[in-house]
Amino acid sequence: MTDKPQSPHSEWSSRFAFILAATGSAVGLGNIWKFPYITGQNGGGAFVLIYLLCVLGLGIPIMIAEIMIGRRGRHNPINTLQALSAEAGADPRWVYLGRMGIAAGFLILAYYSVIAGWALDYIVKAFFGQFFHADATEINQQFQALMNSPFQQIVWHSLFMVLTMAVVVRGVKAGLEQAVRFLMPALFFLLLILVAYAMGSGAYQQGIHFLFSPDFSKINADAVLTAMGHAFFTLSLGMGSIMVYGSYLPGKVSIAKTTLYIAGADTIVALLAGIAIFPLVFANHLEAASGPGLIFQTLPLAFGSMTGGWLFGILFFVLLFFAALTSSISLIEPAVVWLVENRDMDRQKACIWSGAACWLLGVAVVFSFNIWSEHTLFGKNLFELLDYLTANLMLPLGGLGIAVFAGWVMSNAITAQELELPQRFYQIWLFFIKYIAPPAVFFVFLHVLGVLG
Ligand code: PFF
Ligand code: NA
Repeated sequence: MTDKPQSPHSEWSSRFAFILAATGSAVGLGNIWKFPYITGQNGGGAFVLIYLLCVLGLGIPIMIAEIMIGRRGRHNPINTLQALSAEAGADPRWVYLGRMGIAAGFLILAYYSVIAGWALDYIVKAFFGQFFHADATEINQQFQALMNSPFQQIVWHSLFMVLTMAVVVRGVKAGLEQAVRFLMPALFFLLLILVAYAMGSGAYQQGIHFLFSPDFSKINADAVLTAMGHAFFTLSLGMGSIMVYGSYLPGKVSIAKTTLYIAGADTIVALLAGIAIFPLVFANHLEAASGPGLIFQTLPLAFGSMTGGWLFGILFFVLLFFAALTSSISLIEPAVVWLVENRDMDRQKACIWSGAACWLLGVAVVFSFNIWSEHTLFGKNLFELLDYLTANLMLPLGGLGIAVFAGWVMSNAITAQELELPQRFYQIWLFFIKYIAPPAVFFVFLHVLGVLG
């Protein structure tokens, strides 16, 4: 056995600091914006059930694997995979897994930043009382007006991108721990308030029924792929983000326990968002399948009529913005670390280049909501294409690669030593990572390609 690769980075100050940062990466727009709208588009309960099964059976074992690989490798995803495949005597082409992950993070951030920009716009709307006593039609008009204004969206997208890169330039750790420490409880608290409001909306039962009673007639191969892809997306898996964060993790920490905290927090936030939103959808006779605008067309109705709604509305969109920020920095971090370690750039230059390129692609995404909305490929506009390509294809493929690498390429002696689990739990993890995760991802892909009908 060779020596562990040495780290050029500093380490997190504690396990708690790592949990905070990784939870900050996981909890974001994926939970509050994406989970509700794709659940609406895919018919509710059955989709939610498949998503939860994917979190348990694929997400958790693969997150353990990805953190472990990061901690053992201690570099950016490409160099980490290079070092670990050399250590295992395996094919050096494993580095392509790292390359794909870096590309995925970059592509996701291009549209993530645009949606985060919508949240910024809604902070201002909330502040000026625009939701006050507004009905569903007015709220919808406000959202459409934003969609129809490339200029307004570009302004907010630019601001969000600048803020993201300003945090990344200073290194991931500065301020992040403190921000997340405050953010998570506050977000949780506000979601509880929204759930309480939803309980009194008159359609609470209907919302709960939609979310939790599975109707499998609504499910096809593509819905299963979307649910699986979302499990990766929401847990920030399959692209090297968590691997990079893991590379700063001190050696003593229990990776498995840490993973359970992160996945648990992420899942709870998503479910609370769903429970808050769907009763409003039904109480106001809105369309559950209305798409990416869903939270912006429902939650303002609650803020416009509840006691304290002005303040809660502002707070909510501010928190959504911060949740997006702690995720966006982890989306671009792998690209920045790669530019610094492999392309000899200093951190500042790496941030400027990657941020500018990502911003430009984001501008094209803005156009896909208005002037380019008719330009489609496979029936999808640019936003939908990027989302499908990254969340449904690249992340599951990345997750598959991580599972195969951890289960079949790395030696059991090394993974057992890194994970330090009681034998029984180690065997369970190994079983999932070797025999469940890779075939499951593979079969879903085959179904979508129509190979299995
Ligand atoms: N997990 C984030 C969310 O749910 O909003 C999105 C994300 C962040 C995906 C970082 C992937 C990633 F590497
Ligand atoms: Na998430």
